[in-house]
Amino acid sequence: MPTIAVTGASGHLGRRVAELLLEKGERPVLLTRDPAALDDLAARGADVRRGDFSDIAGMTAALAGVDRLLLISIDVIGPQRIALHGQAIEAARAAGVKHIAYTSLPRPDAENPAGVAPDHRATEQALRDSGLDWTFLRNNIYADFQIPTAVQAAASGQLVTNSADGASAFVTRDDCAAAAAAVLASDGHVGQTYDITGPEAIDAAALAALTADISGTPVEVVHVDDAAYTAGLVAAAGLPEEAAALYASFGASAREGWASEVTTAVFDLTGVEPTPLRAVLTAGLTGSGS
Ligand SMILES: NC(=O)c1ccc[n+]([C@@H]2O[C@H](COP(=O)([O-])OP(=O)(O)OC[C@H]3O[C@@H](n4cnc5c(N)ncnc54)[C@H](OP(=O)(O)O)[C@@H]3O)[C@@H](O)[C@H]2O)c1
Repeated sequence: MPTIAVTGASGHLGRRVAELLLEKGERPVLLTRDPAALDDLAARGADVRRGDFSDIAGMTAALAGVDRLLLISIDVIGPQRIALHGQAIEAARAAGVKHIAYTSLPRPDAENPAGVAPDHRATEQALRDSGLDWTFLRNNIYADFQIPTAVQAAASGQLVTNSADGASAFVTRDDCAAAAAAVLASDGHVGQTYDITGPEAIDAAALAALTADISGTPVEVVHVDDAAYTAGLVAAAGLPEEAAALYASFGASAREGWASEVTTAVFDLTGVEPTPLRAVLTAGLTGSGS
């Protein structure tokens, strides 16, 4: 049986993947910058090791004996992320890891305006060039992230968007974790690219309608351009300009149709249908499960 490892195992996605691997009877190696945060998973049989992409020698040592690695993209955006992902790949190769599954983005093409596309495109290329076996898990936008949008829309009666009628196939983080755990714990995924999506593509009008239906309050869609959307996030939500522009880039990406493709990957990999956005928003808006 191959030895499986997960980077960034104390993050939301990494922890969930680790839990699912333990439930499958695996004894995963869990890499994190904060091993104490995973004491509970160590007590359940995981092999918790310190791993930071900025420390190549430390990462190489931490990956000793690992065959198959889930490389979770880190939460820093831009050239630094590309460099750190490259270092993680270098460490994996030095340690003798055979196969890396990487959490990417659907269609990370040069023309995709999503602000994170260049990082994912570059990391995918680094993996193709590495000589290692690879699998790309191209996770769509997290459905979980639509909860604050829906809460705000229900409270104000307005859903402000720059995505026009562009739709996104929002997928829950738990479904992304289940797909990743399935890929790690089974064979046959080398050289495969999976677009991990929810069960439907949702545009701003559908998100507003869902929010209104669940909350019982009318929600009007307000369409703005990228500059106005960014300015609104800075002024109303107090976001730094750079973060606001990043959010606006996701709206632009949706508007241009880059995020709308729905696939059967979650079901194909896990045997379970992906969670609909309605269930996520119902839990987020009312505290009840469905
Ligand atoms: N699809 C989407 O909508 C979406 C949205 C947001 C983010 N993402 C991407 O998906 C990733 C996982 O999502 P998440 O919700 O789990 O994010 P999260 O909870 O913010 O986790 C961030 C992750 O980055 C890791 N990390 C940061 N710096 C690192 C370093 N120097 N070396 C090694 N690991 C480092 C953390 O690992 P430790 O703290 O355990 O070391 C942690 O796993 C994010 O990091 C981001 O790249 C996707």
